Amino acid sequence: MPLSRSLSMSSLSGLPLWEEDDLPVENLLLFEVAWEVTNKVGGIYTVIQTKAKITVDEWGENFFMMGPYYEHNFKTQVEQCDPPIAAIKVAMDSLINSGCQVYFGRWLIEGSPYVILFDIGSAAWNLDRWKGDLWDACSIGLPYHDREANDSLILGSLIAWFFKELTDQLRDERNIIAHFHEWQAGAGLVLSRSRKLPMATVFTTHATLLGRYLCAGNVDFYNNLDKFNLDKEAGERQIYHRCCLERAAVHCAHVFTTVSQITAVEANHMLHRNPDVVTPNGLNVKKFSAMHEFQNLHSTNKTQIQEFVRGHFYGLVASHWDTVQIVKKKRNILDRDDFTIMKRAIFATQRHTLPPVTTHNMLDDSTDQILANVRRIGLFNSRNDRVKIIFHPEFLSSTSPLLPMDYEEFVRGCHLGVFPSYYEPWGYTPGECTVMGIPSVTTNLSGFGCFMEEHVSDPAAYGIYIVDRRFRSADESCNQLTKFLFSFCQQSRRQRIIQRNRTERLSDLLDWRYLGRVSRSLPDRDCTLCRNDISQMGLRGVRPSTVPTVKT
Ligand code: G6P
Repeated sequence: MPLSRSLSMSSLSGLPLWEEDDLPVENLLLFEVAWEVTNKVGGIYTVIQTKAKITVDEWGENFFMMGPYYEHNFKTQVEQCDPPIAAIKVAMDSLINSGCQVYFGRWLIEGSPYVILFDIGSAAWNLDRWKGDLWDACSIGLPYHDREANDSLILGSLIAWFFKELTDQLRDERNIIAHFHEWQAGAGLVLSRSRKLPMATVFTTHATLLGRYLCAGNVDFYNNLDKFNLDKEAGERQIYHRCCLERAAVHCAHVFTTVSQITAVEANHMLHRNPDVVTPNGLNVKKFSAMHEFQNLHSTNKTQIQEFVRGHFYGLVASHWDTVQIVKKKRNILDRDDFTIMKRAIFATQRHTLPPVTTHNMLDDSTDQILANVRRIGLFNSRNDRVKIIFHPEFLSSTSPLLPMDYEEFVRGCHLGVFPSYYEPWGYTPGECTVMGIPSVTTNLSGFGCFMEEHVSDPAAYGIYIVDRRFRSADESCNQLTKFLFSFCQQSRRQRIIQRNRTERLSDLLDWRYLGRVSRSLPDRDCTLCRNDISQMGLRGVRPSTVPTVKT
């Protein structure tokens, strides 16, 4: 029986496993569905955008990404073309002939994956009928005022319709794997399964809806995972219908995956299914031909940050530092004029107000949480404060007149990234630091922190400081963070350079070239379905235990 015809979970086991090189991708079509395809609205965009290249390398013309069509995104990021497979064109045409707009092209990112984009507005007139279909399929009702949920139903209905037409066309010729991300893509999975479409499905959650909401409040989430009344909590936050969609997708999928062990634990409680596979998020790691190039970049970007800091603290009119450099370059022996210039520079730096804490005028200055805390602890950049603060409440950009640097350049110029979040299903920020050879602070509640704890025997030696937020009180965690920062500051330049070299060596662990490969070497576990599914279905990602442990 071909894979695509086998909908029951048990029928997937017992099929022969094939060697990785023999994965019959020519007989498989892989579709990846996400709200963020060509649509930069959240963190999942980074995941699917960075993963595309390795997937295209492996699947070539048999890989397609699907998402919502937005005219601006399409015009600026997609090169329109014809589908390489006739059945896809026929399936698209049947939607188009019924009055819905569907677009095909190549997404202009690394790997140039094919994309199929569905115009939600053009199909909105079907909404009431499709709400009825969803209700008939799984008794989930969507309120009229939740625009995002309604849009996700329109997208899901279009996608399930497309798959119906496609599977009718393909019959037994090609087998289909459809990989859906997050609840916004969930309706497509639920409807496809309820219509018994002959294809294998994967659902990935990058966080749980309720977990996200509960952690936004002041809740001891991880110590009470089994105590929440989920329906009640969801109802109080007016997300009951969204949670139902999420749960339905999780339980309908042949394979359920999430991004980290900590989110697997969360999903088990919040969604009542243990993920079959953990697929950690990767990055496209840039390798320089010269090993030390990332150190040079650190040095040049640091100089730029230092210039900005000098400007912020001493004003832009004259900065003492620049004057000294000019005088130093010009003369060997200082004369009276040099002293005069330097005195003027020193006098010019005298100010009657303290250097501001923030670079911008804030709209909600009095209620801003960061500013409120700065006021509470009285850190106003006074001369005696040993910690100075510059709060830059805006995304970094190389076109900014204030600090003309991109995020990547800024990170490279820093000594340490500090990201002690409580709720962080994966956590790209410390990962980005790592691949640039910059040490960082993370926590044992972040997916990244757990991943590093599992695979690196002494993470701190590699510049990964993991604050314990799981088994300590908030105060104890703060003290531990302070200790990390203090010991980091006590390192010599030589020690920092060596540590950066070690941090950079962890990059391979986070590279899609490694994490995005189809895995065969899965450890034995009670879920044979999962093991078979992965090797047969070509699911992205590896189980963490197949990642080599770095020895110190
Ligand atoms: C890199 C550069 C060195 C520079 C050093 C500064 O290693 O290659 O030229 O001296 O960074 O390190 P630091 O930790 O003081 O920023």
